[in-house]
Amino acid sequence: MKYCFLALFFMSQNLLAMHNPGKPFGQTPAGESVTLFTLKNAKGMEVHIMNYGGIIQKILTPDRTGKLEDVVLGFETLDEYIKDTPYFGAIVGRFGNRIAAGKFTLDGKEYTLAAQNNGQHLHGGLVGFDKKVWQVLEASDRSLSLSYISKDLEEGFPGNLSVKLTYTLSEENELGISYEATTDKATVLNLSNHSYFNLSGNAKRDILAHEVQINASRLVAVNKVLIPTGVLAPVAGTPFDFTKSHVVGDRINDTSSEQIVLGGGYDHCWALDKPFGSYAKIATVVEPVSGRKMVVSTDQPGVQFYTGNFLDGHLTGKYGVAYGKRFGLCLETEHFPDSPNQSAFPSTVLRPGDTYKTKTAYQFSIN
Ligand code: GLA
Repeated sequence: MKYCFLALFFMSQNLLAMHNPGKPFGQTPAGESVTLFTLKNAKGMEVHIMNYGGIIQKILTPDRTGKLEDVVLGFETLDEYIKDTPYFGAIVGRFGNRIAAGKFTLDGKEYTLAAQNNGQHLHGGLVGFDKKVWQVLEASDRSLSLSYISKDLEEGFPGNLSVKLTYTLSEENELGISYEATTDKATVLNLSNHSYFNLSGNAKRDILAHEVQINASRLVAVNKVLIPTGVLAPVAGTPFDFTKSHVVGDRINDTSSEQIVLGGGYDHCWALDKPFGSYAKIATVVEPVSGRKMVVSTDQPGVQFYTGNFLDGHLTGKYGVAYGKRFGLCLETEHFPDSPNQSAFPSTVLRPGDTYKTKTAYQFSIN
């Protein structure tokens, strides 16, 4: 009898944890089924996330009149995500951002990775975490936990890495993303979410009129293939100074700045001012017409602010919008690019016995 109660108790716990079954969202060419989950709070905010790439497909938030609209770029169907996407909404890993020439040495051993971006490694390789079907651990109306096991030497990275990812939607319209990982061999790791935000709602126009503020007085300066030179350059007096809020488009074409020319606009990692490892508010974005505001918090040391410079109109997304140049902006919280080759940067090495843990949140409100 006692055992019967115990069994019922565990079953009900399981049902509670799984009480959001999601909706079928198609299959990968390999025949793996993908599910789309909707997180929803009492305020009406919705976040749609699939277990393919951990992709955030939709975020519905109110404008100043209360109208719910979508504030991220993406597609209506799984097939479009599989065919061609510049990481819309995806989790990037095992190593988000770039590693010089796709090579690094760890504990005296050299590892070779895909060097698919201008001869450099980008976002985990040819089939990174953004293209994997993640296992669903738990899903409710307010949270979704996914896991992925990346095998030893997958995309060239050492160690069997076990990753857990949890998305949580709060009543304060905050979307939290927390990551945990362990490995059985020393490896390098840099996980981030690659959502393209456009707070105008349903991507009505480009992001050049968005106002951005970033709590960073230094920039991770890059060379012509966007690999860090090793210099953390002061932003004061440059188009990279967002310590006070600036309209994105105001200085984005200021070609007197070499870094602007190299990035084709903003495509750089800012070195955040907050104490290393501390969790704090690091950036604010405001879209003046809709009144939507987004505050980004993280415990990561950097944020890649990318203004969709490579979007060229060839992809048509949700609501039939062709995503032209600068139709979305990314704030990818992360460690600095090329950290495995830059001993002066904070370390991205994860060793057996240690647990990688990090958290980022995007909070939406009205300005
Ligand atoms: C990142 C990079 C950009 C670009 C996009 C994807 O954010 O920094 O240069 O590659 O991903 O298009």
